[in-house]
Amino acid sequence: MQIKFYNSENQVPMEMHKVRVVQKLHLLPVEERLAKIKEAGNNTFLLQNRDVFMDMLTDSGVNAMSDNQVAAMGIADDSYAGSETCNRLIDAIEEVFGVRHFLPAHQGRACENILAETFVKPGQFVLMNFHFTTTKAHITRMGGSVIELVGAEGLVTDSQHPFKGNFDIERTKQIIKELGAKNIAFVRIEAGTNLIGGQPVSLENMLEVAKICKENGIMSILDASLLQDNLYFMKTREEMCKNMSIKDIMHKLADVMDIVYFSARKLGFARGGAIISHNEDYILRMKEYIPLYEGFLTYGGMEVRSMEAMAVGLRETLDMEYISQGPLFIEYMIKELDKAGVPVVKPAGGLGAHINAREILPHIPQSQYPAAALATALYIAGGVRGMERGTLSEQRNPDGTERFADMELVRLAVPRRVFTLSQLKYCIDRVKWVYDNRELIGGLRWEDEPRVLRFFFGRLQPIGDWQERLAEKFRADFGDSL
Ligand code: F0G
Repeated sequence: MQIKFYNSENQVPMEMHKVRVVQKLHLLPVEERLAKIKEAGNNTFLLQNRDVFMDMLTDSGVNAMSDNQVAAMGIADDSYAGSETCNRLIDAIEEVFGVRHFLPAHQGRACENILAETFVKPGQFVLMNFHFTTTKAHITRMGGSVIELVGAEGLVTDSQHPFKGNFDIERTKQIIKELGAKNIAFVRIEAGTNLIGGQPVSLENMLEVAKICKENGIMSILDASLLQDNLYFMKTREEMCKNMSIKDIMHKLADVMDIVYFSARKLGFARGGAIISHNEDYILRMKEYIPLYEGFLTYGGMEVRSMEAMAVGLRETLDMEYISQGPLFIEYMIKELDKAGVPVVKPAGGLGAHINAREILPHIPQSQYPAAALATALYIAGGVRGMERGTLSEQRNPDGTERFADMELVRLAVPRRVFTLSQLKYCIDRVKWVYDNRELIGGLRWEDEPRVLRFFFGRLQPIGDWQERLAEKFRADFGDSL
């Protein structure tokens, strides 16, 4: 599948598409980058895109659209009810997942809101391989608790395990026995496990979890937001998928899971969200919330043009050349950073490259947010905007104490079909520079800490003048270069 180079030393991943619409980028001088990160309260979420050279904050809603997606947007049928656009989206969902029952929502977390509202009762548990920020917030808001069951290997940053997102099957069975099925609202399987480095779950593991759920009369829910990269790993790393097409795998999953939901900002290169199920009763129970929270059943808060793009994008998910691009580029980044000695999450997963801040900055305690500090250093060094995925992204315990994250990562997301290889090489170069200057980096403390999802809009200050010294060192090393 990968194109081989005549000279194998020159081997690099190839873009199987060409760029025909471009967006101008700006790279500010390092002194201005220093000023901008301070203005942004040392929170990369608060940087303005015009001040960012490589926006690697997320892969959500920033994937490049194809010519066919853009063309499809032109035929959107803008009617409140009974729109042809909705019918076309349902046809695409049926083709891709083999399921016709569908509820629209404006994005992934809106699906989570509806799932939590419908199925989580106070005191109940939701079992999952690993939590995602918005998922957990919705479940705890309804009085539920999250129990994580990822295998021990999932939290090992330097590993060879091909499916680090897998559930620990024995523990899953044991927890179900201990808690009792009636106290479990549902089991959620997160494909491409986000917070542990976009690590995939094997098809075998997903099927096993679904089977356990069925045997115990517990609902199984697949969060397919990051399924696209996960499908690539199933196809390339898993024996049982060798002779299955992508479509076969998707149909199988939608068949065994009680509910599948996803953010179309990730799956399908578009915007929006969807909940699908072959179980009409579940759909009926959730349905009433759609007009209440989202919009009428034919659009659920989505713009019709986005729905057209989603229909085409979901079909593109069946194309191995399209879905390989992200994982291959990420693999390249991980290989190059690893060669330079930079601690990264291994093996390469989907979504982006994950840099291990805990290992790079052992002198910064978790209470001073090493991953958030590293993210500011990367912006100062290269105008690269990553995202903290560590303690800052956690919520404090109910008693106000800090909940230290299992991993302190900076995620450099690789939006699909967006960056060229030379841009990635630039990013790798700047990460290496930051790594070589890691001793200059210090911690952060709160200036303004929101109570809920604090990482989105909280503001922080550096402890000491380390950012100035980092910028000075950059100037000394790079002369008059940007
Ligand atoms: N589930 C997973 C696994 C996700 O990664 C996300 C979003 C959601 C659900 C929620 O979807 O954003 O459409 O509401 N992840 C984004 C990220 C925000 O940057 O990783 P959404």
